[in-house]
Amino acid sequence: MCLTIPAKIISINNQEARVQIKKGTRDVYIGTLTDAKIGDWILITSAAGIKKIDEKEAKEIAQLLEDARNINQEKINPTLNEIFSRAWNGALKKDDLICLLKLKNKEDIEALLSEANTMRYHFLRDFICLHGIIEFSNYCANNCVYCGLRRDNQAVRRYRMPIDEIIEIADEAVNKIGYKMLVLQSGFDLGYSDGYLIEMINRISEKCRAFLFLSIGERSLGLYKKLKNAGARGVLFRFETSNPKLYETLHPQESAKGNFQNRFFLLRELKKIGYYVSSGPLIGIRGQTEEDLADDILKMKELGAQMISMGPFIPCDNTPFANEKSGDVEMSLKMIAVSRLALPRARIPVTTALETLDLQSARGQGLTGGANALMFNLTPAKYRKNYKIYPNKFYGREINWEKMALYPGEEGYEMLKKELGVEI
Ligand code: 5AD
Repeated sequence: MCLTIPAKIISINNQEARVQIKKGTRDVYIGTLTDAKIGDWILITSAAGIKKIDEKEAKEIAQLLEDARNINQEKINPTLNEIFSRAWNGALKKDDLICLLKLKNKEDIEALLSEANTMRYHFLRDFICLHGIIEFSNYCANNCVYCGLRRDNQAVRRYRMPIDEIIEIADEAVNKIGYKMLVLQSGFDLGYSDGYLIEMINRISEKCRAFLFLSIGERSLGLYKKLKNAGARGVLFRFETSNPKLYETLHPQESAKGNFQNRFFLLRELKKIGYYVSSGPLIGIRGQTEEDLADDILKMKELGAQMISMGPFIPCDNTPFANEKSGDVEMSLKMIAVSRLALPRARIPVTTALETLDLQSARGQGLTGGANALMFNLTPAKYRKNYKIYPNKFYGREINWEKMALYPGEEGYEMLKKELGVEI
């Protein structure tokens, strides 16, 4: 779901109110807020007041959206300025992406994040999507060397959630808390038959009016078609890297070549049949260069990915990559910002892996550096510790975000349609 923003009512004319927001004033419909009066704080979409809040809440929420960056325009290096202007003209070249990803100087990086933030605001305003993710099975037939859920990892206690339990969580998230975007994630679990997955999506769709993303790996196109008919709308499926050689180092035991090509084949086909596609790379694997990452961004563009799913690699015990170096927070933030410049309208979440690496500030840095979405985990506590893709996974679900982003009811759906063109 998407964020509303706090506003203060400065005048009222019948069912219309003029409200003060951070950047000026706005006229909104307040017909549903029958007791609203001048001086009250409310949460608004671009067109309507949604609910009353108190001043303290409004200030806390405004804080979450604060742009902390203070850039001295005069000091920005001229090469950067030229690249930024190409970005605004939709004319970024691969060399530009590489140059931005190679930035080392703190001020230059701040300028990059700030520019990405401006672009996010220009194209998408302050509307930020909150996705709820349910990790419903940790079985995996794949053996990716970086992933804690890999088939050969005997240390994992495997689980599969029964359909009824998955539905209960989805029901509570959508119908009680107000989530409108759900990601159903599992390993590449062939223990779920096609029929079982179809039944699951059918039943969730029946009960929950929500945009359902599948994150179930490389299943057949035929199954994806059936799941779409059952109500799935989006697919979250990372290509991990666009460099075939690197891909091979990540998947040495598979037929890496076929697998690599098939991922892209599948992503293209899924897009063709109308799925909302989210994909992207793993950041910071050994041997990966800025050129590779620039290619990854170009690949997301070529695929027409509407959402970008990427995050830093975090070494996981009991995997062949347990002693590898971790991905880098700064590079992950640069990837968010450069992706925003290259794909101005994409939905870009601050993913859990980045939050895990930097609990204090990744979320804020990402959201003021080009990102416009968050993933909150809805997996029941008893399963979470076993969904260990990497260690110390962050599970923060903040009440303030849920307060402003999630509200049950028709307005939420209308807002999604209006702000994001998503009809549910
Ligand atoms: N660190 C970070 N991300 C990982 N993933 C898998 N293992 C790790 C890890 N060790 C990511 C992959 C996969 C997604 C579900 O999780 O990119 O596509």
